[in-house]
Amino acid sequence: MNILTCEGVRKVYGSGNNQVTALDGINLTVNKGEFVAIIGASGSGKSTLLHILGSVDRPTSGTVTIDGTDLSKLNPTQAAIFRRRKVGLVYQFYNLIPTLTVQKNILMPLTLDKKKPNKEYFEKVVRSLGISDKLEALPSQLSGGQQQRVAIARSLIYRPALLLADEPTGNLDQKNSKEIIDMLKLSNRNLDQTILLITHDEKVALEAERIITIEDGHIISDEWRR
Ligand SMILES: Nc1ncnc2c1ncn2[C@@H]1O[C@H](COP(=O)(O)OP(=O)(O)OP(=O)(O)O)[C@@H](O)[C@H]1O
Ligand SMILES: [Mg+2]
Repeated sequence: MNILTCEGVRKVYGSGNNQVTALDGINLTVNKGEFVAIIGASGSGKSTLLHILGSVDRPTSGTVTIDGTDLSKLNPTQAAIFRRRKVGLVYQFYNLIPTLTVQKNILMPLTLDKKKPNKEYFEKVVRSLGISDKLEALPSQLSGGQQQRVAIARSLIYRPALLLADEPTGNLDQKNSKEIIDMLKLSNRNLDQTILLITHDEKVALEAERIITIEDGHIISDEWRR
């Protein structure tokens, strides 16, 4: 069953002489439960695509359907709610709220919906990400890699059907990176979650079952590894 479809997605930034075509006709279908890596050179359009899939940004043209919902039909408020409940998003630059503790950052998606966390799941997530002892700290008191793990915890707290992660291991060493990928794989399997992750790290990409390569806003290769 498919969870994500992109048809003819184009994204043009700016106007006149300053126009940049970040995405130039992306067609893509992802089925439920897939673990997909997206690779490509800096500036090729990876983050732009992820933001459009996460309904943070809108395409200039083309359509994106996620779990049966046409994202273009959502107004900004509906898009925010959809994203929070259905899609976990790990931003390349984390986007943590600086004035809130780690715990409050992680629980934010639930707090916004006035929902109580499942204590057991919360503890499991923070433990497996190695941030249990940082819950009362502010983001500014954490290393880059720790902030990245907080962002991952926040993206998982709603147990989203679709997880979109932009370089989730970009600030981690090999050992931590491997642990995070193993954890995401487990989450992918246990929650029947679909994961799309952007990476520059070949080792990380090789952990995925499908590797999509983007160049200049086009998909130039889409490869199944088994
Ligand atoms: N808000 C914006 N306004 C104008 N141009 C933008 C904007 N965001 C991205 N771009 C341009 O769109 C293109 C794609 O950018 P994008 O951030 O998607 O690349 P990326 O593949 O994620 O790169 P990286 O690996 O460095 O993160 C680049 O040429 C970039 O300069
Ligand atoms: Mg990027």
